[in-house]
Amino acid sequence: MIELGINIDHVATVRQARRTVEPDPVVAAALAEQGGADGITFHLREDRRHIQDRDVELLMRTVTIKTNMEFGCADEIVDIACKAKPTWGLLVPENRAEVTTEGGLDVVSDKGRIAAAIKKLKDHGILVSLFIDPDVEQVEAAGNLGADAVELHTGPYALATNQTLPKELSRLSEAGKVTSALSMRLHAGHGLNYSNVRSVAGIPNMIELNIGHSVVSRALMVGMRDAVAEMRRILDVCRP
Ligand code: PXP
Repeated sequence: MIELGINIDHVATVRQARRTVEPDPVVAAALAEQGGADGITFHLREDRRHIQDRDVELLMRTVTIKTNMEFGCADEIVDIACKAKPTWGLLVPENRAEVTTEGGLDVVSDKGRIAAAIKKLKDHGILVSLFIDPDVEQVEAAGNLGADAVELHTGPYALATNQTLPKELSRLSEAGKVTSALSMRLHAGHGLNYSNVRSVAGIPNMIELNIGHSVVSRALMVGMRDAVAEMRRILDVCRP
């Protein structure tokens, strides 16, 4: 069975739009758990644009499935992760100007910083996953640094046209083969949705998929009717 990690960052994005208390990503995590998620992913960014330190603390106290904390290699955030002790530390490149994580880590040329973060996390008993583009060279570099898993960036696959789709899928499968041969867990994520997830789930040895945007978007749509009906009932009761 493929494990499903749900990224709840967008719930926090909506809350931060008003800097208020709702919607609470911690509550969303509990509901995701009830819906059958195997893990909860959250990205503590240096600029704290969505997930806040308070969320990390509460998520660590309340989530009963795996926690997958995503972050860049900045010392301040790595130290917070070491204290929080999620099941997984997912290292990603972080660029303040980006709307979302744009590309994978360049493990080949940024070995020093990544190796230092991996060591700190492992010393605190945290499993480490590296978010990389589906390139064999990057997978091998991740293996050399002792990563426990790689998360292959499926963004280019998600944006592929009919012409480029076979090439993007084959990049994912080739990188997946090398990942398993190097005894690392194979994870993937970014841009996966209800239409494009099947081919990625069908890649042999795929163990875990991390999905955020599409599931949070769907949650809004399937929940809108009930949310409006509830407000309607309140108004009908106070002014029949
Ligand atoms: N994996 C990583 C490393 C990510 O940065 C993100 C987005 O935050 C995801 C998975 C989930 O991507 P999406 O929100 O497009 O499903």
